[in-house]
Amino acid sequence: MSIVTSQEMFAKAYAGGYAIGAFNVNNMEIIQGITEAAKECNAPVILQVSSGARKYANRTYLVKLVEAAVIETGLPICLHLDHGDSFELCKACVDDGFSSVMIDASSKPFEENVALTRQVVEYAHAHGAVVEAELGTLAGIEDDVKVKAEDSSYTRPEDVQEFVERTGCDSLAIAIGTSHGAYKFKPGTKPQLRFDILEEVSERLPGFPIVLHGSSSVPQEYVQMINAFGGDMPGAIGVPEDQLRQAARLAVCKINIDSDLRLAMTGTIRKYLAEHPAEFDPRKYLGPARENIKQLVKHKIVDVLGCDGKA
Ligand code: G3H
Ligand code: 13P
Ligand code: ZN
Repeated sequence: MSIVTSQEMFAKAYAGGYAIGAFNVNNMEIIQGITEAAKECNAPVILQVSSGARKYANRTYLVKLVEAAVIETGLPICLHLDHGDSFELCKACVDDGFSSVMIDASSKPFEENVALTRQVVEYAHAHGAVVEAELGTLAGIEDDVKVKAEDSSYTRPEDVQEFVERTGCDSLAIAIGTSHGAYKFKPGTKPQLRFDILEEVSERLPGFPIVLHGSSSVPQEYVQMINAFGGDMPGAIGVPEDQLRQAARLAVCKINIDSDLRLAMTGTIRKYLAEHPAEFDPRKYLGPARENIKQLVKHKIVDVLGCDGKA
């Protein structure tokens, strides 16, 4: 088995009414936690690298760690660039062995988004890679770029068909009320995704894979753990998992999760170090963090995404 594209994963997920988990990776322990969980659940998985993660780890390490995970697990694993912001970055990742790239030109005017996405699609398809594009903008933080809630906008269903036809993209991220980060909804309000938009989009794009970004659920267990051991994250609220499950049954084939892994890792490390103040061996706190990421990902695969047993 080698790194695969998401094409077959999405075709099966669409037909089967489930979604593939796309988890952000930044280091070895995160990659091991996710892929050990996927292995135990016999689930296909997407490991995604943001431009910030690529800068942090450099262009080689994460690719090699993902290759190691393929060897260790024998699973179909897709290596995906998350939120690529230029043709040059997407090209560099395809050249480095990524099987999938996202070109996120969603903040640009429609015609510019079409032109840039088309350019990336032509290069990626000529080199065996697939492309995710985005229409509509999410609120939240990506790579230190903060989009205010009032500047975000839902995807307009009337745009999607023309966009997909003109760009040739392989999957489409849409904005239906999710947002990046740990503070997705105002405390006291009822989180509700716009399933009416999702359904209208999928009626206009029958069989076409839809992607949901900003899909962390922000487990309160870990928020409380962070707050109990010196952290300060009041009002952290995520997307209810039953709504993600519903989206996975519909046209959503890829669900992006990063913040939940960060919360699990940070909560576990904070607790461990608070309880073992004399410890200074990184393996002692990174090991439990990796284990909790694994348990969290197993829960996502089985209870939210429904992709267990689908590898
Ligand atoms: O959507 C953004 C992801 O959570 C990646 O975050 O850009 O801080 O690596 P990052
Ligand atoms: P979260 O911040 O909800 O985990 O979203 C991650 C994401 O969309 C990565 O592209
Ligand atoms: Zn995202």
